[in-house]
Amino acid sequence: MTITEPGNDARVIAIDGPSGTGKSSVARKVACRLGAGYLDTGAMYRALTLAVLSDGLDPADAEKVAARAEGLVIDITTDPENHKVFADGRDVTMAIRSAEVSAAVSAVSAVSAVRRRLVHVQRQLAGGATIVVEGRDIGTVVFPAAALKIYLTATPSARATRRAEQVGISEPGEIAALADSLRRRDDFDSTRAVSPLRPASDAVVLDSTDMSEEDVVEAVLAAATSRNVGASW
Ligand code: DC
Repeated sequence: MTITEPGNDARVIAIDGPSGTGKSSVARKVACRLGAGYLDTGAMYRALTLAVLSDGLDPADAEKVAARAEGLVIDITTDPENHKVFADGRDVTMAIRSAEVSAAVSAVSAVSAVRRRLVHVQRQLAGGATIVVEGRDIGTVVFPAAALKIYLTATPSARATRRAEQVGISEPGEIAALADSLRRRDDFDSTRAVSPLRPASDAVVLDSTDMSEEDVVEAVLAAATSRNVGASW
């Protein structure tokens, strides 16, 4: 198996972009409106990162991280109204959102053996289904022939403000620290050797800086309609 193994893309809407652009909420809402499934691929990299940290492994040790990925069973729901993630049978839906996991996930997700394994699972979970798939490399690598590809962006300060609201932070120092951690993660994700974060050449690029979440959902649905995506599903 190689990372270029073709996916079954015909019914996939790919939503990629950096952290804090509102991808998850938008993807979930679009899936609900279209009666489609929803897959959060970042949650899978986070589940592995949690397992790596819980086992006391160094997230930068690619060999150990790859070995841990081999032994880990990740189950993730594809129901947009009931998002749950399990690692080796344990519900880790909340635990994977910790600051420790966020700080280590970029290193874990840069390991090529990890990506090969998780991309394979993502294609199995989503292939053939009517589904909105959210991540960093969905339109470029996982489903390169997706029916619709959206690349969601926003300015760094808009993304940090949004993320701060989500996690309930209002103190300026804490917001600055959060902005810094988002920037480091995005730099790492965009410059890594394997499947870096970048828009697919045929993606619809949406800058959500001055848009409400509902506006973004409507813009994605309009892009879907204009390409006949979803109409006959
Ligand atoms: O979407 P998120 O913030 O939960 O993603 C966590 C990390 O996982 C992110 O820093 C990059 C990585 N990721 C990835 O490399 N490829 C994906 N398809 C999804 C996420």
